[in-house]
Amino acid sequence: MTLVNKERPSLETLQKTDLASKRVLVRVDLNVPLKEGQVQDDTRIDAVLPTLRYLIEMDAKIILLAHLGRPKGKVVESLRMKPVADRLGEKMGQSIKTVKNCIGDLAESAVEKLQSREILLLENLRFHAEETANDPTFATTLAKYGDLFVQDAFGVVHRSHASTVGIPQVLPTVSGFLLKHELDVLDKATQNPDRPYVAIVGGAKVSSKLAVLERLSQIVDTLMIGGGMSYTFMKAMGKEIGDSLVEERLLETAKQFLDQAQNARCQIVLPDDHVCVPRFENEAPQSIVKTDDFPSDQMGVDIGPETILRFNQLLNGAKTVLWNGPLGVFEMPNFAKGTQAIATHL
Ligand code: 3PG
Repeated sequence: MTLVNKERPSLETLQKTDLASKRVLVRVDLNVPLKEGQVQDDTRIDAVLPTLRYLIEMDAKIILLAHLGRPKGKVVESLRMKPVADRLGEKMGQSIKTVKNCIGDLAESAVEKLQSREILLLENLRFHAEETANDPTFATTLAKYGDLFVQDAFGVVHRSHASTVGIPQVLPTVSGFLLKHELDVLDKATQNPDRPYVAIVGGAKVSSKLAVLERLSQIVDTLMIGGGMSYTFMKAMGKEIGDSLVEERLLETAKQFLDQAQNARCQIVLPDDHVCVPRFENEAPQSIVKTDDFPSDQMGVDIGPETILRFNQLLNGAKTVLWNGPLGVFEMPNFAKGTQAIATHL
């Protein structure tokens, strides 16, 4: 949670830096969905365009660092960066060079040949286990490709990886426009929010978001919890949750969290009803059940209609809304309705 701490060190921004002919190493989050080699959603590509266009205008040589999926240190053909480079090239109106390894002779020579206003997207960083291990040698090797490091991968900066934590230790670092914008929004949302302030937190696991929940419960007026993680809280309150997702080892922590939030006067809202299925399959027969009537042989996969109504009513009065994570198994179309309904309402 250092990103939303008041003592966050101010990152210098790109604009104050002299860039002409400099080799600028930019970490971007281009972790986009791909299907048969085609990018399915451009959002993350669009988000980095302002930084890239600015670097082009400044006559920089641009070397992009990115990851795709979680190949766990091995080359996975379907996770190569080339289709992403092609889509980015269409958006930028210029071809994006690629290279089949992010380090080694190929990468070095591609960087050496790069001219001002050209863009090179290096291969998936996560083909090397050293990336996620934040290996210092790997970070130093990548850092040698640039005179300056621009961090613009907002979606990845919470990871302690070579391209997030390692490189800034050995290369002058500034934030790109996307990161700057996101941090400004978070600063406002954590330090000077307009109230009533409502947070919606969903997703599968309590464990990956506990620190976020704790921090939010200190600053928001209402915290609505949905998605897989809500079942750990419900079980901690002594409710039946059937075969729903649960993190048993966190039950005590979840209970403590609920007690603390009550003391901090944050209203915690858990789902009133659920979409339940007997099997984890999109086509499985569904039933809508109330929290107090949860069947012991079913699992919850989405928030139910009453919960949608209640969440939406609470959102109506909000002046600030912060949302993280889906409210059901939204990857399966039949369990995406709750998440979609809230998004549409917002
Ligand atoms: C994301 O898609 O959330 C980011 O790109 C980070 O990916 P990761 O969760 O695999 O680290």
